Amino acid sequence: AKEDILESLCNQFTIDDQCLFKITQTFLSEISDGLSGYGRPMAMIPTFVKGVPDGSETGTFLALDLGGTNLRVCEVTLLGDKTFSLRQQKYKVSEALKTGEVTTLFDYLADSVDAFLTDTASQGHDSHVSHPDEDSPYVPLALTFSFPVEQSALDSGVLLTWTKGFSAKNAIGKDVVKLLQDAFDRKHIHVKCVALVNDTVGALLSRAYTSGGCILGAIFGTGTNGAYVEEVSKITKLRQNPTVAAGGEMIVNTEWGGFNNSRSALPTTPYDNKLDRESINPGFQAFEKFISGMYLGEIARNVILSLIDAAPKPLLFGGRSSAVLNKQWGLDTAVLSEIEEAWECLGRFSPPGQGSPEAQKEEKLRRIQGVLAQRLELSLTDISLEDADVVRQVCNLIASRAARMSGTAVAAILVHTERARLWDHGEQSSAGLKDEGKRIGVGVDGSLVEFYPNFQTKLRASLRALVGPEVESRVDIGMAKDGSGVGAALCALVAQRQSQANH
Ligand code: BG6
Ligand code: GLC
Repeated sequence: AKEDILESLCNQFTIDDQCLFKITQTFLSEISDGLSGYGRPMAMIPTFVKGVPDGSETGTFLALDLGGTNLRVCEVTLLGDKTFSLRQQKYKVSEALKTGEVTTLFDYLADSVDAFLTDTASQGHDSHVSHPDEDSPYVPLALTFSFPVEQSALDSGVLLTWTKGFSAKNAIGKDVVKLLQDAFDRKHIHVKCVALVNDTVGALLSRAYTSGGCILGAIFGTGTNGAYVEEVSKITKLRQNPTVAAGGEMIVNTEWGGFNNSRSALPTTPYDNKLDRESINPGFQAFEKFISGMYLGEIARNVILSLIDAAPKPLLFGGRSSAVLNKQWGLDTAVLSEIEEAWECLGRFSPPGQGSPEAQKEEKLRRIQGVLAQRLELSLTDISLEDADVVRQVCNLIASRAARMSGTAVAAILVHTERARLWDHGEQSSAGLKDEGKRIGVGVDGSLVEFYPNFQTKLRASLRALVGPEVESRVDIGMAKDGSGVGAALCALVAQRQSQANH
């Protein structure tokens, strides 16, 4: 019966606290594993960024950002009083560029920077980009490259693997700074790439710059990942590297999207397995596939299709599907977000008018019907109010699971860095922990955490269950808006200082 199928879906997608604990414990062991050696599922990449800014930094920098919803070129001015100004241009990256030859992709990046600089000049803006060397004709630029890159210095690193649907050929194992520099040089564009940064590192640095302190930068967007401040002595795999001085701190890019690829702790449903099997990287980025914006729509599509096809009787839309639903990746996570917005009366949806609770519910379901007709390209007559209610519940189950799982990643970093203990629901004391009684800064960015209704509230509830209310209440989660641009600028500044120190 319909109720049994819905209850079974609910059971499969709901993660209880016990499961959250198991995931977090597995996280802790994969974090240690990644810090001790190379080639582990969670890469735990040393970034060579030592220390975080305090908001007093100044200068104007050019940044290029690839890996989120848009390709962006920006000019960022750090004003030195925890504020900044930013001018940016967004560009689309086509499927053909994502999957073609890597040189074609990097030529496009170089052309976009060139177009931005040309527009700047033609619009009469004076560029104030800070030059380390006044005599050099080259404009310095920092690259935010939001993919797993094993860095060997602030300005070099090789691509370990593509994620998030990119698969450009002949890129794995190549130095991405060199790929970009070669493209600039091929085109005689006088720009020099001086720093390379992951978007999570950008989020961490920019939140530290604007709020005066931050220990974790996390992205919940097209992909998911986190970077945190680690003691160099704990990055034991760096002991093999004679160029890294022992002691002090360094930001580590965890690449937690690749957590638990064995799926020993992740409660996988058949819908997740289908998605994974049909993805371009089956068996990889397991955690990311439960959580991030690239995948939630596809999980929902798989569930919705199974309800349309249910036997002996269809459970949705009278058994009718649509071209959008039949196409892999056809359902965008933004649609799930819109459905939940219609239910919660957020965004463009105002609260329902007066009337009984039943009448108000009906009004909300009618809105969802409208969203479904428009976005799934179904005929309105095929969508009953009951259908709208089922789809809403499906979206809620999938997004709630994502947000609760996201809480395990944050909790694991807090426990690993000794700012929290896994909470046994007894008396809570932070005695002996780092930052006892103090604010714990976390910078976040990405379309899910920014736009998906209640994502952050649910993440926090999961975090509270894991580390207890005392620690959770001190965790200050703030948007690191424009994190990649500002973070890249801060990295360029560090690179500039290092190059000045070496001359
Ligand atoms: C943006 C950053 O703000 O957030 C990107 O500039 C980052 O670098 C992105 O990848 C993550 O969000 P989304 O939703 O665009 O993937
Ligand atoms: C993917 C990338 C990672 C990035 C994250 C968020 O997981 O591998 O480098 O930080 O997406 O954009």
